[in-house]
Amino acid sequence: MRFIETWTPATLVETRDLSPSIREFLILPDQFDGAAYPVGSHINVAVTINGQPETRSYSLVGEADPSGFRIAVRRAEDSRGGSRYMWQLAPGARLDVTLPSSLLAVDWSRKHYCLVAGGIGITPIVGAAQALVRRDAGVTLHYAVRSRRDAAYLDHLAALLGDRLVVHASDEGGRLDLDALFASLPPDALALFCGPMRMLDAARHAWLGAGRPLPDLRYETFGSSGSLPTEAFRVRLKGSDVEFEIPRERSMLDVLNAAGHEVMYDCKRGECGLCAIDVVDVQGEIDHRDVFFSDHQKQENQKICACVSRARGTITVDTLHRADAI
Ligand code: FES
Repeated sequence: MRFIETWTPATLVETRDLSPSIREFLILPDQFDGAAYPVGSHINVAVTINGQPETRSYSLVGEADPSGFRIAVRRAEDSRGGSRYMWQLAPGARLDVTLPSSLLAVDWSRKHYCLVAGGIGITPIVGAAQALVRRDAGVTLHYAVRSRRDAAYLDHLAALLGDRLVVHASDEGGRLDLDALFASLPPDALALFCGPMRMLDAARHAWLGAGRPLPDLRYETFGSSGSLPTEAFRVRLKGSDVEFEIPRERSMLDVLNAAGHEVMYDCKRGECGLCAIDVVDVQGEIDHRDVFFSDHQKQENQKICACVSRARGTITVDTLHRADAI
């Protein structure tokens, strides 16, 4: 069960390899007006994984472009199948996509902005950097990558930002020290972050450790990153013998809804919390991959965002949907 989402047919116009593992896709909807969209916007793309229809959410790269929507996809061997599907597409392929939407509200009135990207998390940050430079705001981008060879959009960002781009390449010993970075920022600075879950956890701790208000750290993450490897796990329904296996390429939300449980959802990115369901027992470990619950709520393990979070072992949940209604 989902709130209204507008899908539109589109064509994959061209692809471009930005690194050995990151490919850019230019997608042109049949009806396209090139209208501006907010920083941090993403589109959903209809994909097919093991013969099943699924959707994947990708951040738009850069500000509005008259040639179409630009996304970049990292080919992840441990992915749930979305990146494999995207990488096998050739120009001319037909796709269904949604119109851009964003849950990232940015206060543009600050004097100082600190952008932080980890790996493929650079995708929404490119547009933020462009918008801030256009506004003549004070901005620095810290881009953490394994190596420069793995980094996307480096040349573009270097031309845009000059020495305000700081690359932290781990193969050059360039570790990003978030504690030192956040402690050094001016008091009114706003940080925009996008990166994997572990890095986000570190960023939140460093931000609070620097005595800064958490609302001044805005973030995006991607639901495919967690603390545990992406593996199959089992979900048991409270008060019944019903048990589901959640394969590595599908979400708990999709499996429950395919079985008629009508779990509500909206973003499917771990951001809105609408898909949260009650957890009544954990035999194993939950891997919370959402950015909706607080650290404290995640430790309590009383709820799980079914769209992105996963587990090891077996968890028992209460979907509040009764068997005689299915
Ligand atoms: S649908 Fe938004 S957090 Fe799951």
